[in-house]
Amino acid sequence: MNFFKKNRVISALSFFILIGLLFVFIGCTSDEDTNQQFELPELGYSYDSLEPYIDAETIEIHYTKHHNNYTNNLNIAFAKHPEIDETLEQLLANPSKIPADIRTAVLNNGGGYYNHALYFSLLKINNGQTPSGDLLLAINQDFGSFDDFKEEFVNAASTQFGSGWAWLIITKNGLKVVSTSNQDTPLQQGIPILCIDVWEHAYYLNYQNRRADYISEFFNIINWDKVAELYEAAK
Ligand SMILES: [Fe+2]
Repeated sequence: MNFFKKNRVISALSFFILIGLLFVFIGCTSDEDTNQQFELPELGYSYDSLEPYIDAETIEIHYTKHHNNYTNNLNIAFAKHPEIDETLEQLLANPSKIPADIRTAVLNNGGGYYNHALYFSLLKINNGQTPSGDLLLAINQDFGSFDDFKEEFVNAASTQFGSGWAWLIITKNGLKVVSTSNQDTPLQQGIPILCIDVWEHAYYLNYQNRRADYISEFFNIINWDKVAELYEAAK
């Protein structure tokens, strides 16, 4: 190999080594280091499409501020532990697996992220639709009737003290209505297929202190087809 050819080979090798080092450096310093990044899910409908039951401003603030903040804060927490392999659902169902230094952040913001993702995905004006098919059969079997289920769900939502949620979940023993505080999920008890957010930010602009009216009107915007899909997927 002559002198110039040898120099070209050395230059090429140096170039590739430099590129390699650059990739290692980027890999060590960028957000790609984290295993999981959460994105604000698409809403799938316009802010005003649930009116008059929930006003556009409430949906916009709830989605772009509250849900978005939970998403951002969840990503900040996860970025501290790129070694996490479990899904968010697995962690929320088994909090002892969450690294201690981010446990509270994940329970609050991961719960907020998860709960709101489900809530917003289930909203659609239903024009009086109620459950049908296998979901209705299961509701009748486990609650007696749709009206009995509704009474129990409304009661759980109404009596939740302070901020929280009411849920319809699938457990080993069938369908059950439960409530949770703050951004706690019911994932330790079962798989949720319906929820209502009873934090004041979900209804205050429209209903002020009238939580009972919001809960009652909520039955006009439950997308029962979607609830049935979740039921079929989870049963
Ligand atoms: Fe909320």
